[in-house]
Amino acid sequence: MSGQSWRITPARRVRGVWRPPGDKSITHRAVILGLLSRGATEIKNFLEADDCLRTLQMAQQLGAQAERLGAARWRIGGRGDEPLREPTEVLDAGNSGTTTRLMAGVLASHPIFSVLTGDASLRRRPMRRVVEPLQRMGARIDGREAGSRLPLAIRGGELRAIKHLSPVASAQVKSCILLAGLRAAGVTEITEPTLSRDHTERMLRAFGATLEVQICSEGAHRVRLRGGQALEAQRLTVPGDFSSAAFWIAAALLLPGSDLTIEQVGLNPTRTGLLEALAQAGVHLEWSTLDEQAGEPIGTLRVRSQPLGAMHVGGALIPALIDEVPILALIATQAHGTTEIRDAAELRVKESDRIETIATELRKMGAQIETLPDGLRVHGPTPLHGAEVQSYGDHRIAMTLAIAGLLAHGETLIHDTACVQTSFPEFETLLHELVERE
Ligand code: S3P
Repeated sequence: MSGQSWRITPARRVRGVWRPPGDKSITHRAVILGLLSRGATEIKNFLEADDCLRTLQMAQQLGAQAERLGAARWRIGGRGDEPLREPTEVLDAGNSGTTTRLMAGVLASHPIFSVLTGDASLRRRPMRRVVEPLQRMGARIDGREAGSRLPLAIRGGELRAIKHLSPVASAQVKSCILLAGLRAAGVTEITEPTLSRDHTERMLRAFGATLEVQICSEGAHRVRLRGGQALEAQRLTVPGDFSSAAFWIAAALLLPGSDLTIEQVGLNPTRTGLLEALAQAGVHLEWSTLDEQAGEPIGTLRVRSQPLGAMHVGGALIPALIDEVPILALIATQAHGTTEIRDAAELRVKESDRIETIATELRKMGAQIETLPDGLRVHGPTPLHGAEVQSYGDHRIAMTLAIAGLLAHGETLIHDTACVQTSFPEFETLLHELVERE
C-alpha cells in the first residue's frame, strides 16, 4: 500500500483515557482457529485493519462463512470436520507476514492446491523458514528462489509430525508448524531458542486443544502437540493491541505534562518487553492486570511524562519487544546516555529493514543513531527538528515518525503513510483526539 502523506505539527502533551484497537496477532489467530473449528466463532474487538481483513478474506476463500455482526464484531462459521475448499483464485496476503506464514501451515495440511502471494514487501521476505519444515512434514511446496520467496505453490495433504529446531525465536514459524501439526500423524514438536509470543498456544487451548510446553536448557522453549485434535468454536474478545499502544506510551512519556490512561490493553509478558526496557531506563509506569480475555491477561496502564536513562536491550527480551524497536529507538533519542539494542537482526527482514529505515529517517530529524549488524546504538538526549521523511511502506516506521513529529520543533512531512491501515487505521484520528496543541 503506497501513497498519502501526513503533515505533523508539534504537540503540547497527550491526555485522556483510551482503549486501543484489537490486537493484530490475536485477531489473525481467532479467524484461523475459527475457520478450523466446529461451529461458529464470535469475535469481539476484531481489528478491522488491512492485515487481519486479508486473513478473513482468505478464510472465506477456503470456505468459511463470515458475517459482520456490528463494528469490530464478526462471526466465523468454521469448517470443522469438512475439508477446506480448494481456492479458485490466488490467495493474496497483502503486506501481512502473519497471514502468509500461519496460513501456509493450514494450507499444507489440507488436501488442496493453493498459490499464496503478497505485496512487493512481502514478496521480499524470507519464507524458507516455514517452507522447509512443512516440506519435511510431507507437503509439496515450490516458490521463487528455491522455495524461499512468494509466490508459493502449495499442494497440501497428509502430513507426518516432525521435531523442528527453529534457529530464530519466531511466533510465525512456531504457529505455522503447530497449525500444520494439528492434522499431522504423530506428535509435532517445535523448539525455539527463546520464547516468542505465545498467542497460538494460548488460543489453541482456549479452543479445546491440548499441548505441552516445556522450558529447556539455556532458555529454549519447546511445544508439543498431538495431531488429530478437533477444535471447538468459541466466543472471544480480542485484547487491546500493546504494540499499537506503544506509540502512545512513547508520546505520553516524552511530552511534558502528559497523562494518558490506556484501558483493556493486552499485557501478555511475551509482548510487553518494552515495559521491561523502560524499567531499565528508570521509568515508573502504573499498571495492573485486571482480567483475562481470550486466554490473555489484560489491564490498565497509566503513563505520565518523565525523564529517562539509557537502556541495554538484547537476548531473550528482544522477541518480547521486536515490533517496538522503532518506537524504542525514538524513545532512546530522548534518554540520557547511550542506548544499545542488540540481538535484533530479525528487524532486517520485517516490513522494511527496520535497522536501516528507522536510523536513516530519525537522523533526518536530528537524532544520533548508529546502525549495527544486529541492532542500533542511540545517543541521547538530542532535540529533534521537523523534516521531510518517508515510511518505506512500513506502518511502524510511519507511526514512529509521526510521534517523532509531535516532539520535534517545526513541521514534519511524512510520505507514504497509507501503510498504517495494515495495523492501526484509527491512528491518524488519535493525532487529533489524544493530542493537545500549543
Ligand atoms: C507476529 C510475530 C512476529 C511479529 C509480527 C507478528 C505474529 O514476527 O514481528 O509482527 O503474529 O506471530 P516473527 O514471528 O517473524 O518474529
